[in-house]
Amino acid sequence: MKKEWLVEEIGRLKKEKRAVILAHNYQPEEVQDLADFVGDSLELSRKAAEVEAEIIVFCGVHFMAETAKILAPGKKVLLPDLRARCPMADMVSGDDLRWMKEQHPGKKVVAYVNTTAEVKAETDVCCTSSNAVKVVSSLPEAEIIFVPDRNLADYVSQKTGKKLYIWDGFCPIHEDFRARHIEKMKKSHPGAEVWAHPECPAEVRLLADRILSTGQMIREAPKSEAREIIVATEVGILHRLRKENPGKKFYPASEKAVCPNMKRINLKKIYKTLLLEKPEVTVEASVADRAREAINQMVRFI
Ligand code: 13P
Ligand code: SF4
Repeated sequence: MKKEWLVEEIGRLKKEKRAVILAHNYQPEEVQDLADFVGDSLELSRKAAEVEAEIIVFCGVHFMAETAKILAPGKKVLLPDLRARCPMADMVSGDDLRWMKEQHPGKKVVAYVNTTAEVKAETDVCCTSSNAVKVVSSLPEAEIIFVPDRNLADYVSQKTGKKLYIWDGFCPIHEDFRARHIEKMKKSHPGAEVWAHPECPAEVRLLADRILSTGQMIREAPKSEAREIIVATEVGILHRLRKENPGKKFYPASEKAVCPNMKRINLKKIYKTLLLEKPEVTVEASVADRAREAINQMVRFI
């Protein structure tokens, strides 16, 4: 199937079925270019809740589509490949979190949005990388359970001064960034700033000029005085950064930072998904109802 044909057919099906295509900043370039809206986890959750459409084709990973379904239960949410899952989200289960709550009775739970609906149902407030510090600061408690990302938790704990009971999860892509990657890039580009995602390990965050979510990187790039930026996150973000800031130079901290699950989505799968209206992502009503309050609180924090 030719790319031009697929793009045209997807456009036709979208109109016919009143569908909208949402894509995460880590999606392949051709998917980002085709999408109606590209954003970070928080922006995409908001968009899913407010967009007028009967069908949402979610180009991202499973927990994102699940979150969209919980926020927009009346819409059909399609994920072009059900194998596109986030390994970090799968590192903690509902049982694990129930066990953790037993170990720390009475403590509030903050869960990163990179979790399954089952985990969100056991959570008080969700957060994304762009509002985690604000969410945790907003709670009056000094000690909080935080799942599943140990790196984001460490960053939030430093920023807020709160004691977090941490689950030992991590993003395998961001975990692989090392200080030597940053040092090597800084040698080649001495004038460049370093921007890192909070899912990176401490040794990388320590060398970064700024810690930002993917959406924050997109918003801050045009405002920044830096002409060159070394970016420590998944390489998919470079497409938008370069497209929207032609006068600046962006370098990946590591070319190997590719999330294979994000890259499972492609034009052919989007076309088939729209045509057949499957695979659909559903969430059991009792789980969705319990998870919704925690997600609703998250979307209120910018
Ligand atoms: P953000 O888009 O919220 O920065 O999150 C990055 C991520 O890893 C999503 O899986
Ligand atoms: Fe999950 Fe990491 Fe991929 Fe994001 S980049 S979807 S956190 S594995």
